[in-house]
Amino acid sequence: MSATSAQADSGPAISAKRGAISIRGITRIFAGSVAAVDHVDLEINAGEFFTLLGPSGCGKTTLLRMIAGFETPDKGRILISGKEMQDVPAHKRAVNTVFQSYALFPHLNVQDNIGFGLRMRGMKPADRKKRVDSIMELLQIGQFATRSAAQLSGGQRQRVALARALVNEPDVVLLDEPLSALDAKLRAELQIELLRMQKRLGMTFIFVTHDQHEALVMSDRIGVMSRGKLEQVGPVLDVYEKPRNVFVAEFLGLSNIWPITPTGEHSARAPIGEISITAPLSGDGMAMIRPEKIWIYNDSAAPKDRPNLFFGTVREAIYMGASTQYRIELAGGQSVLAIDTNNQAAERSWRPGEPVAVELKPENIMLVSP
Ligand SMILES: Nc1ncnc2c1ncn2[C@@H]1O[C@H](COP(=O)(O)OP(=O)(O)O)[C@@H](O)[C@H]1O
Ligand SMILES: [Mg+2]
Repeated sequence: MSATSAQADSGPAISAKRGAISIRGITRIFAGSVAAVDHVDLEINAGEFFTLLGPSGCGKTTLLRMIAGFETPDKGRILISGKEMQDVPAHKRAVNTVFQSYALFPHLNVQDNIGFGLRMRGMKPADRKKRVDSIMELLQIGQFATRSAAQLSGGQRQRVALARALVNEPDVVLLDEPLSALDAKLRAELQIELLRMQKRLGMTFIFVTHDQHEALVMSDRIGVMSRGKLEQVGPVLDVYEKPRNVFVAEFLGLSNIWPITPTGEHSARAPIGEISITAPLSGDGMAMIRPEKIWIYNDSAAPKDRPNLFFGTVREAIYMGASTQYRIELAGGQSVLAIDTNNQAAERSWRPGEPVAVELKPENIMLVSP
């Protein structure tokens, strides 16, 4: 494509900053199937921790492979650091990829695995050692330097895989579910380490996961994908608190969602009854409230004269340590899901069969499209 077509593009200006990525109308259709990636437009900032989140099969890996240059788009363009990637082969891109199960060379020890790429590039042994040592220190794997890759645990192998990518000092690091195979505790540790490392090194990270919790913990911004399309892109807090549609709301956490018919600018009829909503209403849609945003009271202690106060009975109480998740059946037969922090003595939580009131504050009710 010519330089003039870049200016003719609508959309944001292309950033030439090192590590910035511009994805424009990218599409990949595999033979005999629907588009794995379908007209995706995405701007990723230099030095950003960006997460692609979506269910299995939604096109995350395909998109990542096109950025890396392992897969050729059928349509659209990708620019890295302001440069068109169309004719740039994978090994010439300033990009390194870490996969879920990374094939280390079993016959090489840890430091030789990490330094392999640098050796191929012809870096002098002394310079290579300096680079390898410093990355091993950063990832706390120095004590395994001479151990063979086959003698490492899962967590250690992923650290080495990460070191292998980072030692090349790429502008962009692509991570395709690199922590999915690890147990919960190790995974939580590596999440925080990865985050610290990314901030310290200032590289652009594109992290792929199907795990909403992981996405929330790690990212500056996330892009939620479904069936080859980006459903919503934004800072973590925005996407969680103000999901655009039902898919994003449900994929990113627990939610109560009801169809509504407006009865005024700030009121609507929902299956649970008439509700007040702070956001201005227009047309039919869905109302969404996160369970942790619902207040629960003993029915006799419920505040008077508040909007969106509903009475019901606890039907289910699932104790989760720090919080308890309740299913509360309202007088009309509809249920709401509410989560309460266990910040009181255990005997002060609610039990199945107890009468309660719930308050859905109007400002906590979001409007989402179906
Ligand atoms: N090489 C391929 N040939 C045919 N279909 C593929 C190929 N790679 C991926 N797909 C299909 O493209 C879709 C997206 O796959 P993928 O990008 O791997 O999703 P994800 O990483 O989100 O799980 C899936 O339907 C998958 O079956
Ligand atoms: Mg994948």
